[in-house]
Amino acid sequence: MSKEVKSVDYGLEKIFEGAQDFLPLLGTDYVELYVGNAKQAAHYYKTAFGFESFAYKGLETGSRDVVSYVVKQDKIRLVLTTPLNSQSPINDHLRKHGDGVKVIALWVDDATQAWKETTSRGAKSFMEPTVEKDENGEIIRSGIYTYGETVHIFVERKNYNGVFMPGFVKWESEYNPDTLGLKYIDHMVGNVGWGEMNQWVKWYEDVMGFENFLSFDDKQIHTEYSALMSKVMSNGNGRIKFPINEPAEGIKKSQIEEYLDFYEGPGCQHIAVATDDIISTVKGMRARGVEFLTTPPDTYYLAAPERLAAHDHELKEDLETLKSLGIMIDADDEGYLLQIFTRPVEDRPTLFFEIIQRMGAKGFGAGNFKALFESIEREQALRGTL
Ligand code: FE2
Repeated sequence: MSKEVKSVDYGLEKIFEGAQDFLPLLGTDYVELYVGNAKQAAHYYKTAFGFESFAYKGLETGSRDVVSYVVKQDKIRLVLTTPLNSQSPINDHLRKHGDGVKVIALWVDDATQAWKETTSRGAKSFMEPTVEKDENGEIIRSGIYTYGETVHIFVERKNYNGVFMPGFVKWESEYNPDTLGLKYIDHMVGNVGWGEMNQWVKWYEDVMGFENFLSFDDKQIHTEYSALMSKVMSNGNGRIKFPINEPAEGIKKSQIEEYLDFYEGPGCQHIAVATDDIISTVKGMRARGVEFLTTPPDTYYLAAPERLAAHDHELKEDLETLKSLGIMIDADDEGYLLQIFTRPVEDRPTLFFEIIQRMGAKGFGAGNFKALFESIEREQALRGTL
């Protein structure tokens, strides 16, 4: 396979040519966050993001050490986990990183094979293939470490009919706010340390069979003050996309450095979730208290129609409505996309969410990077971390 980096190449057919098929991935299975108070976090994701109660394990189900609430919206499942005593190693993770993503779980047909293929290619094991059973069948999980203390768990669930996994029961709640149209995870971004991006690009190529199908250097992603570099890794069928960011030298501290300082190491920077109707999704989220980055200036919206026209696309949504909600617009040859970023969802300036609606475009909003970073820098200045 070609190792040549295809800079700003949006052709998905390239993925099928280059990526290896020793690790077939069916999709994202779940994302597990270690949090300080899972009960309250679950309430936040239900209320503010429109997730629904889905599954639970805790003292009542015989889990003495950890409690997990699973919330779901269409294909997205978040597992929110908190230790129940001081002995749990989860406390170490929380002490160091604060709330954040521990597990990016991937749905596979054969978790044993996935573990063998990846560990034989150099992955560090997190969990050997393990069978978990209950009256609804069995699940096999295995896991490997990726950047920082983040892990990928492979989930094989073809012989399981229960609600989520053995150990969990259906979570019935009397509080069921309306969902907000979030459908699936579009991509998840990792921040790695200085000079580490290429080593993780190679790791995803060698260990997971992914291909680097899009790259941005610090000449493309910079503001007056700071810069970063980013490479997008994708698996063979394009369902799993992991951009990897590394800080670059600038006059002031970049948002990636700020993240690394507060997360105290590499980790998941943002989870991008897709919607078919970003206007109603963002209206709902704003009404329910989700905080978004500040809206780009008027000049950004004045220039938007021209940027779309340069790629022969016409905006279907009302520009004034997008502007009033702070939604950004980017275009490439195949279409355009609409996106907006939340503020960090915990007190440390670390993990945040992106809401994205793709109207044909396969990129990640490169045309918005400058406006976005200037917005983040305004907030960094307020935090005294620029
Ligand atoms: Fe993103």
